[in-house]
Amino acid sequence: MVEFTLPKNSKIKKGKKHPSKGVGKTNKNFKVYRWNPDDEKNPQLDTFEINLDDCGPMVLDALIKIKNEIDPTLTFRRSCREGVCGSCAMNIDGTNTLACTKSIEEVKGEVSIFPLPHMHVVKDLVTDMKKLYEQYASIKPWLQSNSTNPSKERSQSKQERAKLDGLWECILCACCSTSCPSYWWNPDRYLGPAVLLQAYRWIADSRDEKTGERLDNLEDPFRLYRCHTIMNCTSACPKGLNPAKAIAETKKLMHERR
Ligand code: SF4
Ligand code: SF4
Ligand code: FES
Repeated sequence: MVEFTLPKNSKIKKGKKHPSKGVGKTNKNFKVYRWNPDDEKNPQLDTFEINLDDCGPMVLDALIKIKNEIDPTLTFRRSCREGVCGSCAMNIDGTNTLACTKSIEEVKGEVSIFPLPHMHVVKDLVTDMKKLYEQYASIKPWLQSNSTNPSKERSQSKQERAKLDGLWECILCACCSTSCPSYWWNPDRYLGPAVLLQAYRWIADSRDEKTGERLDNLEDPFRLYRCHTIMNCTSACPKGLNPAKAIAETKKLMHERR
């Protein structure tokens, strides 16, 4: 069995062990990051042994089982358990992904579970998303027009609509932004791939009439141009989207209008 080990200089301590009470053929260890702001202790990694014969197939199923049956204080976000709400994003087996769509079987050996990296932790696996949501609000993520409201819906051709594919599917889980080195180093000034993909979703929308203002808002050495095309974002996206391409398209439009 592959065992997950902490680096020697890690401030995260080995935590409690919770052996399985079940007698299943396939027990698996889940090493889960724990931190409680109220107890003034360093973070620790607790080990929960789970009988997989009595657990659903996804990592989120294991976390729910731990919370329901072993430790009700374990704290994490989840809602849809279908990969559409984005709330269960975390770092599993070294990769940012959604706990509800990550199969336990895919992970060889112990399953390590940490909060999304380079984010302030609120408790255990819950990170503070306030800054990211403020950045999202700053790109005005709604349709804006200069004209008076039409009497019927604003239509698009099939080709115009197709330009939104690969963009509208984004669930704002932040797996991409929290795997982007440029966002790690400049989270206050660089918008990051999640918000930039969302910004491009409105720039690319034929019905939106504020393209110029939207590009003006991004014309800044940090907000957009901190992207150095490292592509971690695209590798991380659990929905198979390509934020790096959306950023490149935005830069192209910036260049064309100069
Ligand atoms: S391509 Fe840009 S946004 Fe994506 S990880 Fe690299 S620097 Fe970050
Ligand atoms: S682009 Fe992908 S990884 Fe980034 S926020 Fe959207 S769905 Fe999540
Ligand atoms: S619970 Fe909604 S995406 Fe995982």
